[in-house]
Amino acid sequence: MDMSDNGRIEIEKVTKIFRREDEDIETLTALEDVSLNIRSGEFVSIVGASGCGKSTLLRIIAGLETPTIGEVRKDGETIKGTDEKRGLVFQDHSLYPWLSVWDNVTFGLKSLGRYKEKKEYAGQLLEMVGLSGFSKSYPSQLSGGMSQRIALIRALVTEPDVLLLDEPLGALDAFTRMNIQDVLIDLWKETKSTMLLITHDVDEAIYLSQRVVVMTPRPGRIVDEFDIEMSYPRERSHSQFVEYRNKILKKLNYAHEQSIGYYI
Ligand SMILES: Nc1ncnc2c1ncn2[C@@H]1O[C@H](COP(=O)(O)OP(=O)(O)OP(=O)(O)O)[C@@H](O)[C@H]1O
Ligand SMILES: [Mg+2]
Repeated sequence: MDMSDNGRIEIEKVTKIFRREDEDIETLTALEDVSLNIRSGEFVSIVGASGCGKSTLLRIIAGLETPTIGEVRKDGETIKGTDEKRGLVFQDHSLYPWLSVWDNVTFGLKSLGRYKEKKEYAGQLLEMVGLSGFSKSYPSQLSGGMSQRIALIRALVTEPDVLLLDEPLGALDAFTRMNIQDVLIDLWKETKSTMLLITHDVDEAIYLSQRVVVMTPRPGRIVDEFDIEMSYPRERSHSQFVEYRNKILKKLNYAHEQSIGYYI
């Protein structure tokens, strides 16, 4: 197990402005003055309305986009480009359909030349998510929930310090989603990776994370954050849980009313 304390993220005054050639407005401020520090091994969720810049922020941390202003650092170093130390899982799992489950899971290991060293670990992760019996299956033979479990361990098998999750459970039905939330907690505890999750589901954010960050759109900003001071596993009907839910939903609605006032 990796006992290092890598995986610290510092987002410092990040603004992202996109150019728009298709509209009369020439630029779009997707993120404005966003600052956030994430501790090594912390589980943080970001919630916010569609278009508030969540994916843009995640893509900047992944190294797929660069900030227009500001800086993002991992363990003190400015992020430049993608790196296997920062894993990424999207809503659409995008497994390789022509590869078996095992070959999908170990694809990254092979391309890094770490297959021999880590194949046992890959087997352990597969077992942890209850899919060791499906090594030889192909993605088309799996359910959505199974595919997403494979996508998670495929991203974790190379031992990233940080796992960036953009609505990874968004396409799943409610029951599968709750099951995989538990899988995600198990994987987090096992790997000790820093987890940064984007979700529209406030309950999911509270159930999983130590801290919930709330963003609002136009321009995308962080408006508040909540430390979730509950031990795991969490009870969704617990009064404390319900209280967090009310507070966060209020924050999102309140912000919405404000933006109507300003922009419509
Ligand atoms: N490559 C791009 N070029 C131009 N505009 C972009 C680009 N990527 C994102 N945007 C714009 O930036 C804003 C934020 O987009 P982003 O995808 O980050 O939102 P989001 O919070 O992830 O939304 P959702 O919840 O719908 O996924 C949107 O208005 C979007 O149109
Ligand atoms: Mg998005």
